[in-house]
Amino acid sequence: MRTQIIAGNWKMHKTEEEAFQLASDLKQRLKDVKGVKAVICPPFTSLPSVKRAIENSPILLGAQNMHWEEKGAYTGEISPPMLLTTGCKYVILGHSERRSLFFETDEFVNLKVKSALKFNLFPIICVGEKLDQREANKTEEIVENQVRGAFKDLGAQEAERTVIAYEPVWAIGTGRTATPQQANKVHLFIRELLLSEFGKECAEKINILYGGSVKPENSKELLDMPEIDGALVGGASLDAESFEKIIKSAINS
Ligand code: PGA
Repeated sequence: MRTQIIAGNWKMHKTEEEAFQLASDLKQRLKDVKGVKAVICPPFTSLPSVKRAIENSPILLGAQNMHWEEKGAYTGEISPPMLLTTGCKYVILGHSERRSLFFETDEFVNLKVKSALKFNLFPIICVGEKLDQREANKTEEIVENQVRGAFKDLGAQEAERTVIAYEPVWAIGTGRTATPQQANKVHLFIRELLLSEFGKECAEKINILYGGSVKPENSKELLDMPEIDGALVGGASLDAESFEKIIKSAINS
């Protein structure tokens, strides 16, 4: 049985002080939560203060991106050891906004995944098709290429330390969610791909999260699907009450 993971992607929201307040509020609300992993991913600038805010709580910290090198002349970038010193355990990689707005390729995502694993960070690897690709019946082809690209050269022992987030691009920030059946079908496709690449033991360990307009109103029915092992939540993770409700809906799912 995989423990559900609910990760909040705060994107480019919250100043340091606002982030501290939201994290402190969540710590209060989630202090007794068991049986689900709650992860929050604030902007880089707020990682140290959010770390302080969630000390002695079950909430885990993640980042939204990183460079694959340990250090060097990469102006504006953040390295894996820097994330580790802020208490990060997870890092979101290959989010569709990074792919489309900042031209991240599968090769970049692969370098980052390998680096995250080397530094003992759990990568949350995002994949998902755009609307025109879904309408052209290319969902599986796109998702397969992204998964194969991200996992290139990895062995089963590395692959089992990853998390995948299936996020159909047309559902991100649009209020339009994939139906639980639509999402589950793609998750099953990804699981079978992992099974053929890495074997059953590894494939069954990998959490596959769904992302795209997850809210308290739809989280339970999504999380109840057999192949959905959690959620990557954008907008609704910026509100403590909504995020709390989504996390609580994951208990026993
Ligand atoms: P959303 O974002 O929940 O606001 O749709 C999800 C994501 O981009 O990870």
